[in-house]
Amino acid sequence: MSSRDAKIERIVEAALRAPTPENSQPWTFTWDGEQLCISFDPARGQMAPLPHEDDAWFCLGTVQESISIASSVENLEPRFLPARALRAGQPMVRVTFQDEERIDDPLHAVIWRRCTDRREFRGGGMELPVFREIQALLPRYPEAGLYLNGAERAEDWAFLIQAENQSFEWPPFARAITRWFRLTEKEIRTTRDGLPYRSLGAGLLTSRLMLLQRRMGRLAGYLLGLVARFSNLAPFYDFRDVAALGCVTVTPRDARSLSQAGRLLMRTWLLLHSHGLAFQPLTNVAFLSYLLRERDTQIPDWLAQELLSAQAGLIDRFGVPAGQWPFFVFRTGIAPGGLPPDSRTLRRELHCSYRKLQGEA
Ligand SMILES: Cc1cc2nc3c(=O)[nH]c(=O)nc-3n(C[C@H](O)[C@H](O)[C@H](O)COP(=O)(O)O)c2cc1C
Repeated sequence: MSSRDAKIERIVEAALRAPTPENSQPWTFTWDGEQLCISFDPARGQMAPLPHEDDAWFCLGTVQESISIASSVENLEPRFLPARALRAGQPMVRVTFQDEERIDDPLHAVIWRRCTDRREFRGGGMELPVFREIQALLPRYPEAGLYLNGAERAEDWAFLIQAENQSFEWPPFARAITRWFRLTEKEIRTTRDGLPYRSLGAGLLTSRLMLLQRRMGRLAGYLLGLVARFSNLAPFYDFRDVAALGCVTVTPRDARSLSQAGRLLMRTWLLLHSHGLAFQPLTNVAFLSYLLRERDTQIPDWLAQELLSAQAGLIDRFGVPAGQWPFFVFRTGIAPGGLPPDSRTLRRELHCSYRKLQGEA
């Protein structure tokens, strides 16, 4: 393998660490010796009953930012040539690389330890220096926005938790998400995607009940409800534990704005980790209400009302300006120690997502 090929392989490994909805990892990478083509795999990308092109552009941004960071330590400068639209079988972006002396991006090491943390946090506040560093990032991504709120009054955010919970009462949505739950060690090992039950805060007993529910339906569902009520699987966020809530915004239907927002999110997430803060996306309300602007969604009316009123709450609390829409909401706070072993999500092996075309360069 040439040294250039080895560099690209390491860069792709870093790109694959980027977060994806439900850990679906919907990317394929092809390197022909000159260009790295990144394509979206719609079959894997079905995060919800409403898979949407805009979500793919946003997530592509997280991959691009990871590639930029990882390229710095390889002394390569990437250049991204995005497609105009998402077309089946066509790359979303082609990347070329120039040899160039570069300073290592300090966030490179954080790529490998970044994760979603669904535990209770240990507080913190907006006075932490990292929030100033985040504000300083914003001019780099002029087509996207990021708004922070110290969430001092937890009760001001009850609307968000309520709407988040309501979205799971819409069966097609709940089914679309829970099918990515990995409930046995074998499932976790063989798929290396989805959400291992421990990453959701579920113990062995709860995972077995969830498995029963998947196989047998209602009785196990009832038992699971009881267990959830008395275990930490019940929704535990009331935001008293956070340092801040954040909202990433986009200009709707604009691929450039969406991918810049993904880049901004990725850098923010890594920066927070580098300062010892944990991070959890809470995106259902923002994403589903974003889709409602298209009017032809299958979201039922009772949920649409709830979501639109929660979206108005987000716009108001975060002070989102007209023309920008909330797309991605998260909570962050001082990390409650390292993640327990086995609770991290895995990634599929490199050969499942990456192909080097033979006989080229
Ligand atoms: C666009 C997007 C939306 C997400 N939404 C949620 C969410 O609403 N709740 C949540 O707990 N995790 C959410 N996640 C986190 C993913 O489940 C997580 O990134 C994935 O399982 C990989 O795990 P990792 O982040 O630990 O590497 C989201 C991630 C992305 C990229």
